[in-house]
Amino acid sequence: MRLILLGPPGAGKGTQAQRIVEKYGIPQLSTGDMLRAAVAAQTEIGKQAKALMDAGKLVSDDVVIGIVSERIDADDCAKGFILDGFPRTLAQADATEAMLARKGVSLDKVIEIRVEDEVLAQRIAGRYTCANCGTGYHDTNLKPKVEGVCDKCGSTEFKRRPDDNAETVMTRLQAYYKETSPLIGYYYAKGKLVSIDGMAAIEDVTAEIDKILSSL
Ligand code: AP5
Repeated sequence: MRLILLGPPGAGKGTQAQRIVEKYGIPQLSTGDMLRAAVAAQTEIGKQAKALMDAGKLVSDDVVIGIVSERIDADDCAKGFILDGFPRTLAQADATEAMLARKGVSLDKVIEIRVEDEVLAQRIAGRYTCANCGTGYHDTNLKPKVEGVCDKCGSTEFKRRPDDNAETVMTRLQAYYKETSPLIGYYYAKGKLVSIDGMAAIEDVTAEIDKILSSL
């Protein structure tokens, strides 16, 4: 199963990708996570990406295409993968087509998660993740079962992203509408697009995605 999760920052792509990973056993390829790992490891790519990410701007196509192209050749992607946050420009979408063609496979679905802008800002402001295993939470929408303890790994350390602040969110939204939203038409024209209501509760969005995936 080869999927793309498309949607603005805070739409719930990462949240839903984690659930698809658990249910379908295919890896989540999040370019945001990969770039954050490069920043933390202070690699050359990480050094270049940090200032752009902190400002809410897109990292260059060449860099992200290079990262994804290498990652989808790994053994764990043989049975499929979820692209989360990639492609984000038309150039990246064309590169994705070329990568898949090279592997002799094609995309199954592009799931667009639709959420209103005001709600996105609230979601991003309340988001945090487990510092150990990366499980995502929210101050009000998705709390751990025991306060201060990760449901998945038991860690008591959590972190927030430096780009999750009001000013950067505006820049990220503008980048989404300018650079990424044209991909909605791109995948619609290819007959791959399905759009879902991301304003619904997390469990309801998961159920909607399940319905789509079980029909593949
Ligand atoms: P990236 O990490 O991809 O961030 P993003 O696209 O801005 O998406 P987010 O991670 O913010 O949102 P999400 O949709 O995953 O929401 P989540 O599930 O966490 O990119 C970061 C940066 O890296 C970019 O700005 C850019 O600089 C760079 N970059 C990355 N990829 C790139 C690329 N391809 N090209 C160029 N540059 C690239 O949910 C948010 C919160 O809401 C959570 O707390 C969650 O619990 C809650 N929530 C989720 N769903 C619901 C719901 N249905 N109801 C209530 N609450 C919900």
